Amino acid sequence: MKEDKQHVVITGATKGLGAALVEEFTGMGWRVNGCGSSASGEGALARVDVTDAAAVSAWAEGVGVPDLLINNAAIINGNAPLWDVSAEEFSRVMDVNLKGVHYVIRAFLPGMIARGGGVVVNLSSGWGRSTSPEVAPYCCTKWGIEGLTSALADDLQAADSKVAAVALNPGVIDTDMLRGCFGEAAEGHRTAKEWAVTAAPYLAALSERDSGAAVTAP
Ligand SMILES: NC(=O)c1ccc[n+]([C@@H]2O[C@H](COP(=O)([O-])OP(=O)(O)OC[C@H]3O[C@@H](n4cnc5c(N)ncnc54)[C@H](OP(=O)(O)O)[C@@H]3O)[C@@H](O)[C@H]2O)c1
Repeated sequence: MKEDKQHVVITGATKGLGAALVEEFTGMGWRVNGCGSSASGEGALARVDVTDAAAVSAWAEGVGVPDLLINNAAIINGNAPLWDVSAEEFSRVMDVNLKGVHYVIRAFLPGMIARGGGVVVNLSSGWGRSTSPEVAPYCCTKWGIEGLTSALADDLQAADSKVAAVALNPGVIDTDMLRGCFGEAAEGHRTAKEWAVTAAPYLAALSERDSGAAVTAP
C-alpha cells in the first residue's frame, strides 16, 4: 500500500545539488532516500556506488518505490582536449554518468510502473544541449542523457505507463563539480542551497504531462 508521505530517491546526495535537494525535500515533508559512494551509510544516506549494479539493486529493494526518482550522481573529466583524456578517465565518466543511470532505472522503474505512476528526472546539463572545449567526455554523457531520457519516455508511452521521464538542465551552480571545471570563476554563481529552494518545488510539480520534455530548472 502507498504511504501518504511523498517519497523521493536522489543519487549523488552527499554534496552539491543532491545534498541540497535532500535538505529541501525533507523540509517539504517528503520521505527522502539518498546515496553516494562516500556516504556514511547512516540515516537516509546509503553508501552506494551507482556503478555497482548489485549494490544499486539491493539499495532499491530496501528503500521501496519512490514517487520521484532523481538521477543526479555524476562526475566530470579533468579539463583537457579529448585526445589527452586517458581511456581510464573516459571510461569512468561513462560508467558513472550513463551506466550508473541505467542501473538505477533498472532497479527502481519496474516498481514505479507496477504501481502506476511517478516521475524519473535525469540530470542533464547546459552541456547536454551545447558543447565547449575540454569537456568532451562529460558532454558526451549529458547529450546521452538527453537521448536516453527521450527514448525512455517513448518506452513508457508505448507501455501505456503513467510514469514520466524528464531531462533536467539544472543551470550553473557553485558546487565542487563547477569549481573543478571553472576554477575561481565558479564564485558568484548560486549556491546549491539557494538553487534547491526553487528547484525542489519545481521538481515536485513535474507530472505525466511533462514526460519526454527537456526542461531547465528555475
Ligand atoms: N553544478 C552545476 O553547475 C551543474 C551544471 C550542469 C549539470 N550539473 C549536474 O548536476 C548534478 C549534480 O552536480 P553537482 O554540481 O552537485 O556535483 P558534485 O558537487 O560534484 O556532486 C556530485 C555528487 O555525485 C555523487 N557521485 C559521484 N560519483 C558517484 C558514484 N559513483 N556513485 C554514487 N554517487 C556518486 C557524489 O557523491 P560521492 O562523492 O559520495 O560519490 C556527489 O554527491 C550532476 O549530474 C551534474 O552533471 C551540475
